[in-house]
Amino acid sequence: MKSKIHINLKRVVDNSYDLVIGTSLKEAAGEILRLYPNRRKFVITDSHVKKLYGGKFLGALRRTGEEAHLLAVPAGERSKNRNTKGDLEDRLLKVRAGRDSLIIALGGGVVGDLAGFVAATLHRGIPFVQIPTSLLAQVDSSVGGKVAVDHPLGKNLIGAFYQPDRVFIDLSLLKTLSPREFRNGIAEVIKYAVILDAGLFKLLESSSPLVLARDNDILLKIVQRCCDLKRQIVEKDERELDLRRILNFGHTIGHALELLSNFRILHGEAVSIGMLAEARIAEWKGMMTHREVARLDRLLRQYGLPTAIPRRTDFGKLLLMTSRDKKSIDGDVRYTLPVAIGSAAAGVRLTAAQVRSLLQGGPS
Ligand SMILES: NC(=O)c1ccc[n+]([C@@H]2O[C@H](COP(=O)([O-])OP(=O)(O)OC[C@H]3O[C@@H](n4cnc5c(N)ncnc54)[C@H](O)[C@@H]3O)[C@@H](O)[C@H]2O)c1
Ligand SMILES: [Zn+2]
Repeated sequence: MKSKIHINLKRVVDNSYDLVIGTSLKEAAGEILRLYPNRRKFVITDSHVKKLYGGKFLGALRRTGEEAHLLAVPAGERSKNRNTKGDLEDRLLKVRAGRDSLIIALGGGVVGDLAGFVAATLHRGIPFVQIPTSLLAQVDSSVGGKVAVDHPLGKNLIGAFYQPDRVFIDLSLLKTLSPREFRNGIAEVIKYAVILDAGLFKLLESSSPLVLARDNDILLKIVQRCCDLKRQIVEKDERELDLRRILNFGHTIGHALELLSNFRILHGEAVSIGMLAEARIAEWKGMMTHREVARLDRLLRQYGLPTAIPRRTDFGKLLLMTSRDKKSIDGDVRYTLPVAIGSAAAGVRLTAAQVRSLLQGGPS
């Protein structure tokens, strides 16, 4: 005898949250105390950020005598894995972090993705607040709720969509970023400009000395603009079903390079190389003019970003990696390609053989 019970779980979800741009770390701590008076607070950070800001931030959180803990992981992409996630969970559970806890991610994109994923699964989900400290995290990874860890077979292969409760952005934290890490963030800014905003592209072309000097006003403008551009995309397509895929420009080849280099090439650097390679593919496909590709090349160089695929790269492996990307379909890879400075098309299907011949010598 068969029977059926229908479990109706249709619901309206409200994952809205605020991004507060231009706040200080101290103000953020004050807001967190005010907003979450009854939650035990666990700050997750990395070893560099801990040294620079951990004590100050923890002190501000404990100001009123409240309990707050700080847990650090080794700095760098290699910490974004299941082992580190498990280790954090062990440490959190040992200090009895329960459902009444709040996770605060204080750090770059690695900490944001990792701590966000921990928050998504601990007790089936506890709230988390993000305080992005790198330029890359401020303009990109703090909007949209993608949280994940890497796997040897690919980046971000294990993860979830889990939105933060709130994001606090303190631009003064960018002063301590190394020049290399700062440029790394600029790569994502250039990505937004290419796919969505010709005006931002022009601003970047005309203001590189100010930007590179980390002038507060121009950084405020840039961070606000990028977060708002990403907001517009994520609001329309939170789960990356179509529109959000345009944010992957430069990332199909970029992720593969990042992984192949065992993370010696940083995320933004790999995206920079990936953007130029993918723009060239767009040119060969007749989607973008040679002049515009040259403009992108110039802008990337202006900011000291790499543009060439490293000479010793094994193309076979590189292409295998791109086809393993979670966005590939039947072995063909779907690229986001620019059509002009300021606009792009997602879902352009290319075979590995096509990409190989294009990258190695232009169209055959
Ligand atoms: N979730 C998303 O939507 C999304 C978007 C883009 C990138 N990402 C992920 O973000 C990661 C890259 O982020 P990242 O570039 O911030 O890397 P990161 O977190 O490793 O930070 C880079 C380095 O800068 C240091 N740092 C951070 N803030 C600092 C500060 N204020 N002063 C001095 N040093 C500081 C860190 O300790 C680290 O050594 C990648 O894993 C990428 O996949 C996620
Ligand atoms: Zn990226």
